[in-house]
Amino acid sequence: VTPPGGSVRRARESDLDDLTRLWKEIAAHHAPLDPVFALRPDAGGAIRRMLAAQLADDDAAVFVWEEAAQVVALCTVRIDQAPPIQVETRRAEICDIGVAATARRRGVGRALARTASDWARKRGIARIEVRVAVGNREGQTFWRCLGYGDLLDVMHRRL
Ligand SMILES: CC(C)(COP(=O)(O)OP(=O)(O)OC[C@H]1O[C@@H](n2cnc3c(N)ncnc32)[C@H](O)[C@@H]1OP(=O)(O)O)[C@@H](O)C(=O)NCCC(=O)NCCS
Repeated sequence: VTPPGGSVRRARESDLDDLTRLWKEIAAHHAPLDPVFALRPDAGGAIRRMLAAQLADDDAAVFVWEEAAQVVALCTVRIDQAPPIQVETRRAEICDIGVAATARRRGVGRALARTASDWARKRGIARIEVRVAVGNREGQTFWRCLGYGDLLDVMHRRL
């Protein structure tokens, strides 16, 4: 289902304020889950530079959902090349996806995820990954609904 009244497009430099705001909203969603997700109070500049680097990276793409002249969601994807050890050396990874709280459950996330996977498929990539916090119930449900399944458990312990 394509949500009405908006569309996906590639992000551009002029979107960096909106991208940074949305990225911080994704981080705020994760903050209660584990201290590992806590942001520094002055993180804005570094977030903006990271997003600018993704915009400039030929092996990455940043997509946004725009409706009523507002950018309400972002999705970043990149291609990762491993050394030639395993048969499969190339994969795509969704780095971040976030839909503003006011625009959720209307198919925007699904449209962005589909655009990102189509972008990767057109580059000959056969597999796409995403890292999802175990405690992120919306994220877990969303990705499973889109056909993604478990691959690895990332385990950690505080020292
Ligand atoms: C996860 C997220 C991107 C989903 O975006 P969205 O636009 O609301 O998702 P969609 O409307 O495209 O949902 C597609 C399907 O996923 C499932 N889904 C999405 N959010 C859900 C929720 N909160 N509860 C249950 N199912 C959910 C539903 O099956 C939904 O289809 P349906 O609405 O027809 O039932 C959004 O909740 C978000 O930005 N969360 C905060 C940031 C985050 O967690 N990002 C993911 C990090 S990996």
